[in-house]
Amino acid sequence: MSDPTPEAWLRVDAMIDDTLSLSDPLLQGVVAAQRRAGLPSIEVSPATGKLLQLLVRISGARRVLEIGTLGGYSTICMARALPPDGRIVTIEAEPLNADVAQANIDAAGVAAAVAIRRGRALDVLGELSAEEPFDLVFIDADKESNTRYLDHAARLGRPGTVIVVDNVVRAGDVADPAAEGAQIDGVRAGLRMLGDDARFDATALQTLDRKGWDGLAVAVLR
Ligand code: DHB
Ligand code: MG
Repeated sequence: MSDPTPEAWLRVDAMIDDTLSLSDPLLQGVVAAQRRAGLPSIEVSPATGKLLQLLVRISGARRVLEIGTLGGYSTICMARALPPDGRIVTIEAEPLNADVAQANIDAAGVAAAVAIRRGRALDVLGELSAEEPFDLVFIDADKESNTRYLDHAARLGRPGTVIVVDNVVRAGDVADPAAEGAQIDGVRAGLRMLGDDARFDATALQTLDRKGWDGLAVAVLR
């Protein structure tokens, strides 16, 4: 590796974003609106947003569940890949986030496909019925609850449902015995569950982009 510094990986991230045209004006506007509203800069990177969009397309998902809307960036990425009758249910606990997300979703022209459910994710999930299963679930909320979110994803999915979990590396903390706390414990427990629980068939990939060193788990329900 000639230059394994943050400057180098940020240069690569910008190059990929630019070369693959991952950030169109609408998505740039979504990020700008989040910043104006004072939301934390923790939306998925453009490359990850595009991966989510491609996973929706590749899997042919028509029903998508998102746990953690923030300002709607990932929601819009996924909504753009849905078929005309496709729908996303996205759960957000923070009222300001949900307001910003709704405005962004309206501006993106995907409001008819997206239902924001306001409230604590575990409460809202408990109200969702498995009658019409979800085809893809994106888990990106409080990390403490990852195993419970995976349980709900398994309950609300069907064999073949795709599950994506954000933030499974956390700058290496996931494998650092000195890193302690409820969030990193939740991340670890989620990864262990994906490995040990026969309902899931999973992998995890490290990512290095404008959000630093982190990673994504991708699983399918057996
Ligand atoms: C945090 C949460 C996220 O979902 C993310 O992608 C990055 C950071 C956080 O809470 O710090
Ligand atoms: Mg995240």
